[in-house]
Amino acid sequence: MNLHTRSLRMNSLSLGIAILSSLALLPAFAQTGSEHKPAWMNNRLSPDERAALVVKEMTLDEKISLLHGTGMATLGPVSPLAVKSNGGAGYVVGIPRLGIPAIQMSDAAYGVRNSGENGRYSTALPDDLAGAASWDLDAAYEYGALIARELRAQGYNMSLGGGINLAREPRNGRTFEYMGEDPVLAGTMVGQVMKGEQAQHVIGDIKHYALNDQESGRNAVNVNIDKRSMRESDLLAFEIGLRESNAAAVMCSYNRVNGDYACENKYLLTDVLKKDWGFKGFVVSDWQATHSAAKASAAGLDHEEPGEIFYGDTMKKAVESGKVPKAELDEHVHRILRSMFASGVIDDPPEKSVVDVEGGFEVAQKIAEQSIVLLRNEHSQLPLEVSKVGSIAVIGAHADVGMISGGGSAQVDPPGGNAIMPPGKGKPAWQAHIWFPTSPLKAIRAKAPHANVQFDPGTDAASAAALAKTADVAIVFAYQWESEGMDLDSLSLPDRQDDLIAKVAAANPNTIVVLETGSPVTMPWADQVSGILEVWYAGSRGADAVARVLFGEVNPSAKLPITFPKSEADLPHPILVKPPKASTTNGEPDAWKTIAKGLPPFQVTYDEGLKVGYKWYDAERKQVLFPFGYGLSYTTYSYSDLKVTPGKSVHLSFKVTNTGDRAGAEVAEVYAVLPESAGEPPKRLVGWSKVKLNAGESKEVKIELDALYLSIFNVERDAWQLIPGDYTFLVGGSSQSLPLKEAVNLK
Ligand code: BGC
Repeated sequence: MNLHTRSLRMNSLSLGIAILSSLALLPAFAQTGSEHKPAWMNNRLSPDERAALVVKEMTLDEKISLLHGTGMATLGPVSPLAVKSNGGAGYVVGIPRLGIPAIQMSDAAYGVRNSGENGRYSTALPDDLAGAASWDLDAAYEYGALIARELRAQGYNMSLGGGINLAREPRNGRTFEYMGEDPVLAGTMVGQVMKGEQAQHVIGDIKHYALNDQESGRNAVNVNIDKRSMRESDLLAFEIGLRESNAAAVMCSYNRVNGDYACENKYLLTDVLKKDWGFKGFVVSDWQATHSAAKASAAGLDHEEPGEIFYGDTMKKAVESGKVPKAELDEHVHRILRSMFASGVIDDPPEKSVVDVEGGFEVAQKIAEQSIVLLRNEHSQLPLEVSKVGSIAVIGAHADVGMISGGGSAQVDPPGGNAIMPPGKGKPAWQAHIWFPTSPLKAIRAKAPHANVQFDPGTDAASAAALAKTADVAIVFAYQWESEGMDLDSLSLPDRQDDLIAKVAAANPNTIVVLETGSPVTMPWADQVSGILEVWYAGSRGADAVARVLFGEVNPSAKLPITFPKSEADLPHPILVKPPKASTTNGEPDAWKTIAKGLPPFQVTYDEGLKVGYKWYDAERKQVLFPFGYGLSYTTYSYSDLKVTPGKSVHLSFKVTNTGDRAGAEVAEVYAVLPESAGEPPKRLVGWSKVKLNAGESKEVKIELDALYLSIFNVERDAWQLIPGDYTFLVGGSSQSLPLKEAVNLK
């Protein structure tokens, strides 16, 4: 026998063994239609029934394989199986013998991440805070649907987006990834985004659960907060988001909450999420937020990412030794499988295809137009009238070539490359400043082809002011960049831009400031300029949206989802707590080991409690720069005829009239003042409606209020409770402009 035949023999022998062993593992098949398919492929069964049938067939190793990803360099060991990853942040191997596909996860906060790196393309939508500023349910749905379509086209079946940590700390470097400071707004909007995603058959994920409100020391910080405050604010946002959408996954966060890591916190994961809210999906840890097997498993963590530090061999041994009960293991597996069935990724797996680039641009622009907030418009400076503007000075923020975007794991790669780098250069590195190639200068020139439109980079305030002096109008673009992995030092614009704006405003009374920011900023020059637009990180087609607003083709209709304070001194915590050295790593190659073991905690105490955002400024009677819910329009609105009808749920009706001379859309906001005995901040948002109105038109708005939004969380009873008493309802166009008021007694 020569070597060749020997090896052939060996091969056929091992093949025989393999066939025998897989025959032993052959699943129960049922007759469905003309083909033989496993019983769980019958989509008339419920996701739970289908998952239960699969679990019964699985070996211990197969079960363990579903509990973790295949690793990511720098965050622990990488499995050889990772070669089949689609290039996203997470990859969970499938079980082909049972027809269970792999889970391919990609970050997708404002678009699909890493597409450039993987030779693909994705649209950058305006950031999540911008999405929230639209207060537009259809826009939020479309936001999710677009992301999911592009995920599927790129071969992913799970999205890692849906950030809704409330902005207790607006200097948080991820504020742009979240949906502002109010739980009803953030929860409702993320619910729509998730609905849009899951309707496309992508597993949706809401994150970071919970209270990961600052990046500094995120792997070590212990957040202290009382139960009532977290249930009524931070957790309520998740509760609403999940209730609205049945999002299939929740990502637990890096930080500790009241002593335990969020990913091994029984109160958060089991008592509240799984039991009280009846969450049927699975909990996935943030990337390296798992710190144990048995403790995390018992607390309710279902799946570890990115690798298998605890949920691989360690978990297997824990199951074999009985430390982790088999039923607990099966529940984790069941939740993952049931989520896959429920979201349709098994019946309708994604197929790679060409991303609809033009369609993406259209959606991105439409949402940007709905999310731009007009903050100031003295003497009706805006909209600009093409026939009356002979010259425009465009200044600052690389407005000749692009617009800034938010960094970290949310970063969408800029098609066409980073606008301030030479073509083909500028691979988006972690925390690089990425400017999307959408040029405000070009967009403005296109709108005003006969005007003399000049650009000054704004790096020298004197030169910018000199140009501004020669122009009819000066438009200063200003930016504040932020990213995951850092917090802002302050809410001031960086790079001496305050000085630039003040000098330009002194040179030209018709100065308009366009803010590209991820967080609120302070504006020492606010009274000196005639117009201010907050355009956030405006995405792939930001420049066109801004130009259409500047020239009145779009009437601004967005409202602030976050308060703009006058100064950091007015924040609940004027100084952001930084970690001591011992609670950080220096990014050394094996830092993951130290993180896995657990860094020594340091304390951040949210003693402002229920008073998040506007509730703080209201209660403390602090004046703000621009309040929550605020935003101007090129037309004006009036409110009248409020009627409040108590009953099983409270019904409100009122009239909104467009009293100006152009069509617009008004976000009509409803706030409730709870009875004194409830012990609540002065008022809370309980509903809204975005109403489209032609010039002179009136519409009756009807809103049914959710009892949950009027309730308080009673810690002794461990339940929500509607306090009987007098409730006052306030209606209007901003949290500080509420012309309608009516009190009713609720029992
Ligand atoms: C972030 C998550 C992200 C994950 C995967 C983490 O650093 O906190 O939001 O989904 O990485 O990239």
